[in-house]
Order: sequence, then structure tokens, then C-alpha cells
Amino acid sequence: MLSYRHSFHAGNHADVVKHTVQSLIIESLKEKEKPFLYLDTHSGAGRYYLGSEHAEKTGEFLAGIARVWQRDDVPAELEPYLSAVSAYNKGGNLKYYPGSPLIARHLLREQDKLHLTELHPTDFPLLRQEFAKDPRATAVRGNGYQQLKSQLPPTSRRGFILIDPPYEMKTDYQAVVDGIQEGYKRFATGVYALWYPVVLRQQVKRMIQALKDTGIRNILQIELAVQPDSDRRGMTASGMIVINPPWKLEQQMSVALPWLHRVLVPEGIGHTSINWIAPE
Ligand SMILES: C[S@@+](CC[C@H](N)C(=O)[O-])C[C@H]1O[C@@H](n2cnc3c(N)ncnc32)[C@H](O)[C@@H]1O
Repeated sequence: MLSYRHSFHAGNHADVVKHTVQSLIIESLKEKEKPFLYLDTHSGAGRYYLGSEHAEKTGEFLAGIARVWQRDDVPAELEPYLSAVSAYNKGGNLKYYPGSPLIARHLLREQDKLHLTELHPTDFPLLRQEFAKDPRATAVRGNGYQQLKSQLPPTSRRGFILIDPPYEMKTDYQAVVDGIQEGYKRFATGVYALWYPVVLRQQVKRMIQALKDTGIRNILQIELAVQPDSDRRGMTASGMIVINPPWKLEQQMSVALPWLHRVLVPEGIGHTSINWIAPE
């Protein structure tokens, strides 16, 4: 089943948190000269036009990036992320939203590599086209989980792996844990970031328990909720689970997350949290 299209959701509150964390991880990895691999298992189309029928239908970006974009009191922790969004919106008008591969493309250096995977028959050609002239990038139409076996460890022995499935199939909650386990077996020093939605809290709890049961250590969880948990349909919160987080990430997000919550949820409902699922 491939009915999920990220174009309906690009730039929403979940993307803002996800891409803030993604950008901070990339910036930390850049502190060493040695190259690294950015592996994106579920890449999407790459670029999203915010005037498209899909974006306008849901209007999700209006309660996401559009709220952050208007601010002039942005904390320094958001600068890498917003520099990437600006790079695709020359002139200052918010017209396009860059997905995770384009954010990485903007922030990565000449010596780094991108390995991007997308399965959707419409989104994959768009992604491939975006990267056609980038010698650092390989775009593959295939199963993202498979790449955790075939591409790890990276030849550079440094890497950041973003795992961002749609969870339209409930099996994704277990597949991400199995995928991380496969990747970790081959490459235990990589930074792994797993995005998750909170639709039913129980599903997230089970996924976290399965992750704890793998015995993997050094796992940080970062979450922003725009509503209280609910058993009705729809995402009330989202988060990033980061294995081997850069040492500054917890502190950086402890500044960025409350600010994002104030800006994204002016009603003041929901919550933010940063916890260690497993310490080092
Ligand atoms: C949440 S979106 C990705 C968004 C993107 N990472 C970003 O932040 O801009 C999930 C994507 O995964 C794709 N997809 C679904 N199952 C997949 C699989 N098994 N392997 C690779 N891609 C898959 C979907 O078509 C969709 O484009």
C-alpha cells in the first residue's frame, strides 16, 4: 500500500521538529573534517510546492513552518534548519518546503555522501530529478529498510541514518525496530534518527519497548505534542528517537523545543519532552 504522499503534510509541525533535529545532527557531524554518509531510508519527493493542491487542501504548513517563518526571535539552534528552508525560497517568500534530502543537500559538504531511497512511483522520479546533477548523491527506487543492510557500514565509517516511514501500515512500528537492529549490527557507531507520530500512544509505547528490548544503549527521545493524547483518529504529537545523539543535541533541543512549542501551539496545549529511553 503506497497511498501516503508527503506533499499533503510537508512543512507541518512534525516536519519542523524532525528537520530541526536533522539539521542539528548534520551540523554536529560537520565538526570533524572526515566525510560522512547521510542515509535517508524514506526520502519522499524532496521539494514540495506550498501552493499545490495537496498542500492547500490540508493547509498543514500554515500551522507549521509558516508560523516559524514569520518570527524574528528565532533561537540560534534553529538557524541551520532555517538556512536550508531559506536556500529554497530566495527572495524571502515561503513558496517551497525542502524535505529531508534537500535539507541534507544544503547542509552537507563536498566530501560527504547522500544515499536516498524512495518507493513511490510518482515521488521517486521527482527525487531522482532533484539530485541528477549532484555527484555526492545516489537515489534508489527501493525499500528503505533494505538499505540498512546493504549500505552499512559506510566506507567512511561515519554516518547519519534518518528513518522516516509513513506508518500507514501498522507493521512499520515493528519494521523500524527490526531495521535499526539490522543497521546497528553492522554499524554500531552511526547516529540513527527515527521519526514517529503519536496517533495511538499505545503503538509508540510498544515500539519503544521493542527498541529497549534490543539492548541498544544511548537513545534520546524528543517529542512535541500539539494536543493531548487521544484515542480518536489523527496525529496529536510526533517525535524523534535518536541513537548515539551528538553530545550537544539534548541541550540544543532543550532550548529549541519549548520555543517551537510556544510558536507552533499558541493555544498552549500539548507538551514537549526530552528523555533518555536508554542511557549510555
Ligand atoms: C514521511 S514521508 C518521507 C518524508 C521525508 N523523509 C522528509 O522528511 O521530507 C515517507 C515516504 O516513504 C515512502 N515509502 C513508504 N514505504 C517505503 C519503503 N518501504 N521504502 C522506501 N520508501 C517508502 C513514501 O512513499 C513516502 O514518500
